[in-house]
Amino acid sequence: MSDEVLTGTGTGAAGNAAEEYGSNPLRDPRDRRLPRVAGPSGLVIFGVTGDLSRKKLMPAVYDLANRGLLPPGFSLVGFARRDWEDQDFAQVVHDAVREHARTEFREEVWTQLAEGMRFVPGDFDDDDAFKQLRDAVEELDASRGTGGNFAFYLSVPPRFFPKVAQQLKKHGLADAPEGSWRRAVIEKPFGHDLASARELNAIVHEVFDPEQVFRIDHYLGKETVQNILALRFANQMYEPIWNRSYVDHVQITMAEDIGIGGRAGYYDGIGSARDVIQNHLLQLLALTAMEEPIAFDAESLLTEKLKVLKSVRLPEDLGAHTVRGQYAPGWQGGAKVPGYLQEEGIAPTSRTDTYAAVKLEVDNRRWAGVPFYLRTGKRLGRRVTEIAVVFQRAPHSPFDSTATEELGANAIVFRVQPDEGMTVRFGSKVPGTSMEIRDVSMDFAYGESFTESSPEAYERLILDVLLGDANLFPRHQEVEESWKILDPIEEYWDRNGRPAQYASGSWGPEEADEMLARDGRSWRRP
Ligand code: BG6
Repeated sequence: MSDEVLTGTGTGAAGNAAEEYGSNPLRDPRDRRLPRVAGPSGLVIFGVTGDLSRKKLMPAVYDLANRGLLPPGFSLVGFARRDWEDQDFAQVVHDAVREHARTEFREEVWTQLAEGMRFVPGDFDDDDAFKQLRDAVEELDASRGTGGNFAFYLSVPPRFFPKVAQQLKKHGLADAPEGSWRRAVIEKPFGHDLASARELNAIVHEVFDPEQVFRIDHYLGKETVQNILALRFANQMYEPIWNRSYVDHVQITMAEDIGIGGRAGYYDGIGSARDVIQNHLLQLLALTAMEEPIAFDAESLLTEKLKVLKSVRLPEDLGAHTVRGQYAPGWQGGAKVPGYLQEEGIAPTSRTDTYAAVKLEVDNRRWAGVPFYLRTGKRLGRRVTEIAVVFQRAPHSPFDSTATEELGANAIVFRVQPDEGMTVRFGSKVPGTSMEIRDVSMDFAYGESFTESSPEAYERLILDVLLGDANLFPRHQEVEESWKILDPIEEYWDRNGRPAQYASGSWGPEEADEMLARDGRSWRRP
């Protein structure tokens, strides 16, 4: 059950969120859908001085408030090793909101939100700081009507998870008072491999029940990713062809044009496969390949995603069917950019991958024999994430082979970003007096079909945490299954040489093209 509070129903002492934030100019008055509004609650962020917090979490909280989706007494507590008062913290949030929020700045929304901001200085070993945090939570319950409902967002490196979790337990913050809830939100990396992920999960679960833990995979908060399930299971026309009888292969691409920026400390030693294949890309694979869940709820989604992940089979010859690369200097956006080994903070001998491509199969009746090619990389030609389901050729063509020379394979492409939507590619007669057939595309673009803009992934996910809606959060079983897929690949790479170099601004190492060419296929150039 989620704690959804709908407009028009009571929100207890805290009143009605949408009403109290006043008429909401961001909402179309003709929109008759009931908004999902969080009930009385607050959010405590650990790691409040970090990048994620400033760029994503604080702006998302403001945007939610601005859209009328938070309760009026909503409270935000920052915890960090800084000598700040409440108003200093509020100023930091203010600056982050002004710089990164997606909705316009409204003074009345800001004022109401800022009244519920508190700051607790201290480090994670400091018992006094956690006592102060407990006092802050109790004070907010009394003054803002947060009702004892708090989510603790651990936006800190995983090595601090155990300490923070234990401190929350020790100071009575992890256990919800009668009739209220306590939740923990954790960010990846959920471990470095299967063994460390298990260890981490065990530690977190010593303090929090599995239902209290919300693991963020921000790709699941993206509108287009959720749409994979809508398109597949709310329609009749795709499912009949969504299988080995019609599909030749699937390509999942997450390409970035940026380098590692200032994240050397996080990225080096982790690399692209651990950074995004283990989580985002395997989640995309699971959503693309899974069976229909019996209901759209967390348990049913977990059941089906887990079945897919457990069915994933690695190629026997990992040398032939996986590739890793490292960006070399090159040109991007008209500027000369350094290679990975020249980035600040990276040792010139680093073997960390910034590009990875792998071939996987899903061993079940629906997908047996259909390869799923996953690739990701930094400093590639452009930023694009897509899932392309590429179909087999028509079994027979009544046309001359010259007529279909330029006809490619049919494909359905989910465009996750940046140009959100879907493309169907098929052959069509070229206008004229001869029979010539060429590829054309039919496009669905979010921007053209809907007037509402998509919420930022973190907005959606923070709201879901406050509502207790776990649909879009991977469970620990999925995390562990994903490591089982990746571990043998990483071990193979560890034993075998260095990543191939590829020029920044290119589409990755040649070896990746060769990997597909061996199967008689080629990567899409999105
Ligand atoms: C994060 C990775 O999970 O996703 C980053 O750690 C990556 O390395 C980022 O840049 C990409 O997210 P998005 O939403 O910009 O595709």
